[in-house]
Amino acid sequence: MEKLLEVNNLSISFTQYVQGLNRHDLKVISDLSLDIGESEIVAVLGSSGSGKSLLAHTILGILPYNAHVTGDVKFKGEILDQEKKEKIRGKEICLIPQSVNFLDPLMKVSQQAIGECSDDNEFKEKKLKQREVFTKYGLDESVDDLYPFELSGGMARKVLLSTALLNDPDLLIADEPTPGLDSKSVEETIQDIKKLKEQGKGVLLITHEIDVALKTADKIAIFYSGYVIEINKVENFLNSENLLHPYTKALVDALPYNGFKLTEGVQPLEEVSGCPYYENCPICSYKCANNKPELIEHDGAMIRCFNFNKVISDDSVSEELVDDVSEESVSEELVVDVSEEVNDEEANDGA
Ligand SMILES: Nc1ncnc2c1ncn2[C@@H]1O[C@H](COP(=O)(O)OP(=O)(O)OP(=O)(O)O)[C@@H](O)[C@H]1O
Ligand code: SF4
Ligand SMILES: [Mg+2]
Repeated sequence: MEKLLEVNNLSISFTQYVQGLNRHDLKVISDLSLDIGESEIVAVLGSSGSGKSLLAHTILGILPYNAHVTGDVKFKGEILDQEKKEKIRGKEICLIPQSVNFLDPLMKVSQQAIGECSDDNEFKEKKLKQREVFTKYGLDESVDDLYPFELSGGMARKVLLSTALLNDPDLLIADEPTPGLDSKSVEETIQDIKKLKEQGKGVLLITHEIDVALKTADKIAIFYSGYVIEINKVENFLNSENLLHPYTKALVDALPYNGFKLTEGVQPLEEVSGCPYYENCPICSYKCANNKPELIEHDGAMIRCFNFNKVISDDSVSEELVDDVSEESVSEELVVDVSEEVNDEEANDGA
């Protein structure tokens, strides 16, 4: 499978000024790597604020002015600089944006969907296609002349979706394309995304909805606090034993299929010195506190965890900890500190 999109070691931070002139760098994406091949759908799943939309905006070159970016993005083997991103945006790479605010408030929706045309023939051809796609999503002719403020939330989402699909991109980035849609339109969206795959296109599907990811994607990448912590084949998400990261396992174990909701409120807001999941991890070991695990390949999956091959059990925490600590012969003071932390966690777990 040829690689269509490659994101390599992407990091994004924002400069903020706290209390006047105090400059502060907030890192929101760290060392992110992700590939999408031709005929491949990769879903990105993560809690609110974990950096999913920023990934989409980086690929398209539409980040806010105060973002600092390192790493690179390649499309069809070529590094995308800002100029190239602008050139292929809306053509070879299209976005279904998360927010309906991406619609131009001063332009009728059919005009926005059709876009610029070089002559009458192109306009007629695109107009026909626009009507066809709008009809498919239940947007009748009266919608064509409406302005965005005249649309309901669901209609606006359908317009965004139709607009992206109309352009027949090689790579579609769908940032939460289904919330607010009726079940028939959700099914249509899934089928349309799959059709792109059959045509050899690639799709980056950003979603909170595990059902949609499971029905649509080939691989699922899990985001946690700006890090990709695991990328695994979709079929492995049906049984947590086939997954590698303790956070990913917890998501699949703890949440019933229909009510799947990502764990909220546990992601560190500030940069931490060790593994970002350390504070919540049931199998953390001493080295996790001050060392960042790299994203490594294992058995066809990608995993960012020192202990991914250790079994999670009730008593695994303290035993592993003692083993690791003695291996690395750290000072007694540190051993006590970490053990206390783990005991606290166990006490909380039992509460
Ligand atoms: N212009 C900005 N300045 C400072 N921080 C920002 C800016 N834009 C985004 N962020 C921060 O970056 C983090 C990631 O934002 P992003 O929108 O990518 O999250 P997300 O995973 O898409 O969330 P959601 O699921 O809610 O859409 C958030 O903590 C957000 O507050
Ligand atoms: S075992 Fe360590 S590296 Fe793995 S998720 Fe837990 S804290 Fe992070
Ligand atoms: Mg988002």
